[in-house]
Amino acid sequence: MFKNIQKEILTDKEYYSIVNHILCNDEFKKIGECTHHGTSRLNHSLRVSYFSYIVSKKLKWDFESAARGGLVHDFFYNENGGITKDGIISTFTHSKKASKNAEKFFGLNNKERDIVEKHMFPLNIKLPIYKESYIVSIVDKIVSFIELNMKIKTKAILLFLLIRL
Ligand SMILES: [Fe+2]
Ligand SMILES: [Fe+2]
Repeated sequence: MFKNIQKEILTDKEYYSIVNHILCNDEFKKIGECTHHGTSRLNHSLRVSYFSYIVSKKLKWDFESAARGGLVHDFFYNENGGITKDGIISTFTHSKKASKNAEKFFGLNNKERDIVEKHMFPLNIKLPIYKESYIVSIVDKIVSFIELNMKIKTKAILLFLLIRL
């Protein structure tokens, strides 16, 4: 399921109807060419978006904003080189770039803007305002951990816990 998230999404009509306009946008599609945590940034964003959507829906929170905010949370083009100087700087600056890009191409409501701009919390010092922002931030960290440690057994345990929330 984790690797084949696109198949899950295509069969989830409600989720797809919420994010369809973003996924079909040519500018957004370009993040599919960026490497991110050993996968493409598009794959990473889809995972964060879809799991945030599932968790928010189960909790009866605003799953639409969680899905949209999660999908555009890393909507930027420059490569995050990890330990390179640019990569480290990007860790602190990309949330603003993503917010700017998402605002330009799709528009953001207040919650979606908070989700995107605060998703790196606690590295971004400002506290997220909305509970959905915390969901996306936590899911982003779990998904990133799994992507960076695909061979570690704990990925299965974390994914199980995430789905069971
Ligand atoms: Fe990010
Ligand atoms: Fe991310």
